[in-house]
Amino acid sequence: MCGFQMITTLFLLAAATMLGGSHAQLSPTFYAKTCPNVSSIVRSVLQQAEGNDIWIFPKIVRLQFHDCFVNGCDASLLLNGTDSEKTATPNLSTDGYAVIDDIKTALEKACPRVVSCADILALAAQISVTLGRGPSWQVPLGRRDSRTAHRDGIGGIPSQHDNLANTAARFKSVGLDSTDLVALSGVHTFGRAQCAAFMDRLYNFNNVSGKVDPTLNATYAKALQQRCPKGGDVTSLIDLDEQTSLSFDNKYFLNLQNRMGLLQSDQELFSTNGAETVAIVNRFARSQSQFFTSFAKAMIKMGNISPLTGTNGEVRLDCRKIN
Ligand code: HEM
Ligand SMILES: *[C@@H]1O[C@H](CO)[C@@H](O)[C@H](O)[C@H]1NC(C)=O
Ligand SMILES: *[C@@H]1O[C@H](CO)[C@@H](O)[C@H](O)[C@H]1NC(C)=O
Ligand SMILES: *[C@@H]1O[C@H](CO)[C@@H](O)[C@H](O)[C@H]1NC(C)=O
Ligand SMILES: *[C@@H]1O[C@H](CO)[C@@H](O)[C@H](O)[C@H]1NC(C)=O
Ligand SMILES: *[C@@H]1O[C@H](CO)[C@@H](O)[C@H](O)[C@H]1NC(C)=O
Repeated sequence: MCGFQMITTLFLLAAATMLGGSHAQLSPTFYAKTCPNVSSIVRSVLQQAEGNDIWIFPKIVRLQFHDCFVNGCDASLLLNGTDSEKTATPNLSTDGYAVIDDIKTALEKACPRVVSCADILALAAQISVTLGRGPSWQVPLGRRDSRTAHRDGIGGIPSQHDNLANTAARFKSVGLDSTDLVALSGVHTFGRAQCAAFMDRLYNFNNVSGKVDPTLNATYAKALQQRCPKGGDVTSLIDLDEQTSLSFDNKYFLNLQNRMGLLQSDQELFSTNGAETVAIVNRFARSQSQFFTSFAKAMIKMGNISPLTGTNGEVRLDCRKIN
C-alpha cells in the first residue's frame, strides 16, 4: 500500500464510521465471521468474467446506481417479473446480470443463505472499479434484499437529458451533494453508451432540426456523427471516454474541459454558466487523487441510500426472485 492509498483508506474508514451514524447496521466487517472470504470470491468471479467480456466492470458498476436510485440499495433492480425495473425505459443497455448470478452461485456454495444480493451489488461495484485501475475502499455491508420491485420508481433515475439543476435536485433528494454528483458522474470515465443516448445532440438538439449541441466540441461532434449516422443502428456502442474507456482515471474531466463529454448530463457539469460544479470538474481534472477520494466517499454515500437491514427484507437465494 503506498502512502496515498493508506491515507485514503484511513480517511474512508473514518467517513464510513461518520456516515454510519444514521445506518449503524452497515459495517465493512459484517461478514467477517459468517463469510470471511466474501471479497475474494466476488473478485475471482469478476476476474473470470473479464475474460469473456472486457466491458464487464463498467456494466457492473452501473447496476448499483440503478439499484440504489430506485427505492434504495435493496437489489430490487435484479428481480424478474411484470414489475421488473430492469426492463423499464432508462435501462438502455444495462447488463451484467448473469455475472451477478455467477457471484451469487459461488457465494451460496461457500456460505449458504448469508450474503444478500444488495451487498453483492455494492461489493462487486467496488471491486470492479478497483480492477479497472480506480480507487479502492471499504464497503459497508449488511444490506438485505427487497421482496418487491418498483417499476414505477424508475423515474428516480436521472436522465441524460435532464438539465443540471434537475439532476442535482434528484441527487440532493437522496442525500448526495454537488461534489458527489461530479465525482459519481466521473464513473463515465469507463464504459460505453448507445448512440440513442446522445444522438439528439448531434442532429436535433432541443428539437431543432439540424441543430448540434453548441456545448459539443465541433471536431468531436463530426467524429460522433460518423459513428452514429442518421438512420443508422442506434444501439451501436460508443466509448464514454474517448481517450481511455477501459480504465478508471480522471481523463473524463479533461474531456469535459475540451467539450468532449459524451452525454449531455456530463457536459453540463462543466458548460453550465455559473454552476458550482465547474470548479469541481477543474479540481478533479487537476488531481486524480482528489477525484478518487471523493468518488470512493460518494460511492459509500450512494450505497447507504435506504438499505433494508436487521430483519427487514430477506437474503435472496436467487437474485432474480424472492424466496
Ligand atoms: C448523473 C446522472 C447519470 C446519468 C444521467 C447517467 C446516464 C447514463 C447513460 C445514458 C448511459 C449510457 C447507457 C447506455 O447507452 O446503455 C450511462 C452509462 C453508464 N453509467 Fe451512467 N448516468 C448517471 C450517473 C451514473 C452513476 C452515479 C453511475 C455509477 C456510480 C453510473 C454508471 C454508468 C456506467 C458505468 C456506464 C457505462 C455502462 C456500460 O459500459 O455498459 N452512471 N449512464
Ligand atoms: C479463502 O479463499 C482462499 C483462496 O481465495 C482459500 O485459500 C482459503 O482457504 C479460503 N478461506 C476460507 C475460510 O474459505
Ligand atoms: C429471469 O429472466 C431471465 C431472462 O428472461 C431468465 O433467463 C431467468 O431464467 C429468469 N429467472 C427467474 C428466476 O425467473
Ligand atoms: C430494457 O428495456 C427494453 C424495453 O424498454 C427491453 O426491450 C430490454 O430487454 C431491456 N433490457 C434488459 C437488460 O432487460
Ligand atoms: C422534444 O420533443 C419531444 C416530443 O414532442 C418531447 O417529449 C421533449 O420533451 C422535447 N425535448 C425538448 C428538449 O424540448
Ligand atoms: C476540442 O477538442 C480538442 C481536442 O480533441 C481540443 O484541442 C480543443 O481545444 C477542443 N475545443 C474546445 C472548444 O474545447
